[in-house]
Amino acid sequence: MDKLNEILLIEDDHALRESLEMFLQEKGCRVKSVGSGEEGLRLWREISPQVIILDVRLPDISGLEMLPRITRQDPEVKVIVITAFHDMETTIEAMRLGAYDYLRKPIKVDELDRAVDKAMHIAVATRDSRPVVGHDQPPDPRNRIIGDTPAMHAIYKTIGLLSRNQASVLIMGETGCGKELIARVIHDSSPNREEPFVTVDCTTLLDNLLESELFGHERGAFTGAVETKLGRLELAGKGTIFFDEVGDLPLPLQAKLLRFLEYREFTPVGSNRVHRSQARIIAATNQDLEAMVQAKSFRQDLMFRLKVVSIKVPPLRRRLADLPELVQFFLFQINRELNTRVSRVEEAALERLRAHPWPGNVRELRNVLTKAALESRGAVLLAEAVDAALDAAGAALPPEAALRSLDEMEQEHIASTLDQTEWNISAAARSLGMSRPTLRKRMARYGLKRPV
Ligand SMILES: Nc1ncnc2c1ncn2[C@@H]1O[C@H](COP(=O)(O)OP(=O)(O)OP(=O)(O)O)[C@@H](O)[C@H]1O
Ligand SMILES: [Mg+2]
Repeated sequence: MDKLNEILLIEDDHALRESLEMFLQEKGCRVKSVGSGEEGLRLWREISPQVIILDVRLPDISGLEMLPRITRQDPEVKVIVITAFHDMETTIEAMRLGAYDYLRKPIKVDELDRAVDKAMHIAVATRDSRPVVGHDQPPDPRNRIIGDTPAMHAIYKTIGLLSRNQASVLIMGETGCGKELIARVIHDSSPNREEPFVTVDCTTLLDNLLESELFGHERGAFTGAVETKLGRLELAGKGTIFFDEVGDLPLPLQAKLLRFLEYREFTPVGSNRVHRSQARIIAATNQDLEAMVQAKSFRQDLMFRLKVVSIKVPPLRRRLADLPELVQFFLFQINRELNTRVSRVEEAALERLRAHPWPGNVRELRNVLTKAALESRGAVLLAEAVDAALDAAGAALPPEAALRSLDEMEQEHIASTLDQTEWNISAAARSLGMSRPTLRKRMARYGLKRPV
């Protein structure tokens, strides 16, 4: 028997109980109703319904007392609390104790209608969902990169090779795609992982302070230099120094950085001792440095210095195959941080996530999941909650981030198809409905190469 539309109504006011019962039956629900708490608990154990409508003031037990007894045993049951108490405390308390929704008397029909519809929809969504988060998932190591697509495997290989040397690395990729995370994993995989990881945000470096910031200064070197200060390079020791958003570095500062990179030597301002840095240099940018070099806004020699090894991080929309695993990883973290307990994802929700272009990449995904997990109020991540979270995220983004040219879309579609077919040209061409020579031409046009 399909239990999805079964409702237990616990309300002592006879007239109200009858009219609610009629209303719910007209909606097509199968209603069992009782007038006291004890009877309510007995029936609840007997029929274990998906939805309960519970009055707070009952003749024998308070609804607020019953609530935790019910939700502790069956965390998935949706309890809609109704009461004439309008105060903030009761509302907060009811929600804290696990109520799904809270309606005030006199009951407004459309409010009740909506609450019941939502609660029943969740029962259906639970049936049409897939479990993603197990309870026995091990605690995550601090910096973990999720991704099982060929492009990500290529990155893991590069990180592995980098673990044997101190070569400079340039990490390129759109905002939020994991550049800093990768930089930290490179650091954590190196023999000098116990040494510091020091970040220099190039967007905030001011011209006249760059040297003192990077190289440090001696006391009295300039007005305001009251104390001797260690520069970032010195702080990094044999560890890693991470130049974030290096594309934002103004040209004069690029020259200074280049000079340092060439000799790895620096002199604190006001000092005459020459220091030698042994730190690894990692730089990251979400700008197209090659194009900036063409436009003469980035020094070519500096780019070459930085990209002894380069890593291109694919945008999320190019590796949608990784989406389920990322969702699982983030939901596990979100549950722990926010005390939510989302362990399943409605199929329709996963479709929504797949269809979104993700201009903010993995960071945007994490934000959307956080909002949607809170909004879903239960074990299932609902498509509706994902929609609401995506709308909020979309509104926060500048419109040009969401607009892409047809060429860009074609390029991305081809790239992700290639990824999905593990770069099998015949399979990709078939799936794209192109001939193999056409596909090869497009790949050449867009510079798409199999990751090594
Ligand atoms: N592959 C991944 N697996 C797990 N978490 C990821 C992955 N990629 C990114 N993240 C997470 O997404 C968030 C954004 O990543 P990160 O800060 O590294 O991006 P970024 O490329 O440096 O962005 P920006 O260009 O805006 O500085 C972080 O919380 C990071 O841990
Ligand atoms: Mg970053």
